[in-house]
Amino acid sequence: MNKYIIFGAIAALAAAFGTYRALANTSSEKVDTKGKVLIAYYSYSGNTKKVAQAINAAIGGDLFEITAEGSYPQEYRPMTQQAKEEIANGYRPKLTSKIDNIEQYDIVFIGSPNWWGTITPQVSSFIDSYKLAGKTVIPFITHGSGGVQNTIADMTAQCKDCHVIKDGWVGYSDRTMGLKSWLKSLGFAVE
Ligand SMILES: Cc1cc2nc3c(=O)[nH]c(=O)nc-3n(C[C@H](O)[C@H](O)[C@H](O)COP(=O)(O)O)c2cc1C
Repeated sequence: MNKYIIFGAIAALAAAFGTYRALANTSSEKVDTKGKVLIAYYSYSGNTKKVAQAINAAIGGDLFEITAEGSYPQEYRPMTQQAKEEIANGYRPKLTSKIDNIEQYDIVFIGSPNWWGTITPQVSSFIDSYKLAGKTVIPFITHGSGGVQNTIADMTAQCKDCHVIKDGWVGYSDRTMGLKSWLKSLGFAVE
């Protein structure tokens, strides 16, 4: 009997630790932080931009806003509907912001809002447009309560031959509480 209680307690502790890790944004993987850092992000309503700026303030690196052709309706529902259709159709808008020398970067943070459970078409265009193979890619995702869903898995699948860190940042809205400890868990020296 005692054996089962102990086993149950260990299983419960392991599950609790897993939940803590998921909520607390801690990475089990370390990054070789000697390389040059790019922090690229797409942000429609400003949340992901705030997280990108907070990463930049904590560890430095170059900040880059992904912008693209096209626009969305002002009203929320038509806007989200258009985004849904774009995602379903695999739409890749033409980028309007440009990085001159992607080769100089070893570590590329890529920030995306969670749109319909995945990354945005603009972020997919960014991944398609630059040679990121061989680089370490660190995802950071903001969401409206759905959490990570398929965002990091889809980024990993789209970013061929990149080393995508699986424990990316996943934060509600523009929340940055715990961001510095997440960066430390990746191995960065944080200001
Ligand atoms: C088109 C669209 C789809 C969204 N879909 C989801 C979703 O599936 N799950 C979720 O948690 N949040 C969803 N959200 C909420 C955003 O992920 C959240 O507000 C995010 O922080 C916005 O980032 P931004 O301000 O950088 O654009 C969606 C928002 C929009 C505009």
